[in-house]
Amino acid sequence: MAIFVERKKINDMKLIIRDNSAAGSLWAAHHIADAINRKAAKSNEPFVLGLCTGSTPIETYKELIRMVKAGEVSFKNVISFNMDEYVGLPESHPESYHSFMHKYLFDQIDEPAQNIHILNGNAADPAAECEAYEKAIEAAGGFDLFLGGIGEDGHIAFNEPFSPLTSRTRVVTLTEDTRIVNSRFFDNDPNKVPKQAMSVGVATVTSSREVVILAFGPKKARAIKDAVEGPYSHMCTVSALQNHQNGIIVCDEASCGELKLNSYRYFKAVEAAENI
Ligand code: GLP
Repeated sequence: MAIFVERKKINDMKLIIRDNSAAGSLWAAHHIADAINRKAAKSNEPFVLGLCTGSTPIETYKELIRMVKAGEVSFKNVISFNMDEYVGLPESHPESYHSFMHKYLFDQIDEPAQNIHILNGNAADPAAECEAYEKAIEAAGGFDLFLGGIGEDGHIAFNEPFSPLTSRTRVVTLTEDTRIVNSRFFDNDPNKVPKQAMSVGVATVTSSREVVILAFGPKKARAIKDAVEGPYSHMCTVSALQNHQNGIIVCDEASCGELKLNSYRYFKAVEAAENI
């Protein structure tokens, strides 16, 4: 039995603050499943979903897998596009985003293989690959919901500081900081982390009708402060959500640790008043 909860439309950027990452992940999974079920109840059009990798979304994916197995949601009419992939890493490499997505989600849900899209980081013509990706997203009807995480510097997908907030899918060069952070997956050796990636652009994400960003733990506190209280700026690309009509950042207490008390209280009050 699919669950179906009528919910209010989100207006303006929201912060959903939960006690810990487990509660935030559950909130996000149920929010996504609701959105899929609501569209399915209204039309036969596919639900177009943007997906991310990283340690952050794993618990959300676990709950979505549980919900699929329990018959509470189905991905049969979901078309997904992942946000990024390393350039030059074989798809079969355990740290490729292809491997990650199959391991943590696709192999355990009912999304048809032909509906799954991940950038080919080994394409002979990378520019053509990126252009074709944007066209495929458009042909699918554009994103209904984009789920993302953020880097410690506030990057969204692989849109590092200095990425235009108007950017679209392209090849990007990773910062030294990101390669050091991600080296934990590559024998702690930053030199083993690919230097480039293909990434959807900031505008590819913000063109989604809804954006849900997950940010948990103290390491994301600076990025959350910059995104919420800082300027709308290419220095913290998740700050692009400040101009989105339907953007949500799901946080835990730790990732809100650097917010001003007044900002924290405001978002808590909005959450309570709007019963999100
Ligand atoms: C990489 C990915 C991002 C992800 C980030 C955070 O840089 N390209 O999409 O949000 O890592 O990863 P984690 O969730 O492991 O902190």
